Amino acid sequence: MDLLKLVNRQDYIGYKKNGKKIVMLTAYDAAFAGIMEKSGTIDVILVGDSLGMVVQGHDSTRQVKLEQMVYHTEMVARAAGAIPIIGDMPFHSFDTPEKALENATKLMDAGASGVKIEGNKAGVVKKITGAGIPLMGHLGLLPQTARQFKVQAKDQTGADQLIRDAVELQESGAIAVVLECVPRSLARTVSQELDIPTIGIGAGPDCDGQVLVLHDMLGLSTGHLPKFVKRYSRLHEIISEALEEYAGEVREGSFPSDSHSYH
Ligand code: KIV
Repeated sequence: MDLLKLVNRQDYIGYKKNGKKIVMLTAYDAAFAGIMEKSGTIDVILVGDSLGMVVQGHDSTRQVKLEQMVYHTEMVARAAGAIPIIGDMPFHSFDTPEKALENATKLMDAGASGVKIEGNKAGVVKKITGAGIPLMGHLGLLPQTARQFKVQAKDQTGADQLIRDAVELQESGAIAVVLECVPRSLARTVSQELDIPTIGIGAGPDCDGQVLVLHDMLGLSTGHLPKFVKRYSRLHEIISEALEEYAGEVREGSFPSDSHSYH
């Protein structure tokens, strides 16, 4: 079985059956999508509405518009090569099943091979999956509607509800479910319960895959980061050093040198 491509539901279930972890990472433009394509290490790119915070400078994801998600999905698609792309449906873009399908279709036309929506809205999910569009669910902390950014479903009632939502998403045809900021033991239970994979962010190591926000894991973001983020690089420091060196050389006149000049 070819496990290289994660396009349809069977591919996602196949990854899980074979115990192959799904590596998902966000990207918002062609520069980073191109690096991912060349590295050959990322299974699926999420054009997340987290771009509202890490690219656009907003304090939440709520300001992100569908047109902007289309624009960023197009940029990523130009450079992602064969890496499948999940386009995030922004706040209010899936208020009704009809509106949701219309907007999901726009993301697919922009180059996505599937879409992601926050929460469990059965009517919306069935409308999108019924039209043959692969849909990824997202449960736990839902940044578009959360009042507080804290661990979710800590009590039995919350945990039971999350398990019901996950099962319902699966029954409605979802390809996978992102679990954000939930206790490790609950994520393990959900992962055991489902045939489709779970993809964790702040949900512990027992999920069937993991996702992080690119700018956080690369250390491009300088502010406070939640406990679940691991910084794999400190790019803001490397970039600051380059900026300092460039500014210093321009000011002292050593850049451009003769070797950077035309004759
Ligand atoms: O928008 C996003 O980047 C996301 C991830 C945090 C899962 O939804």
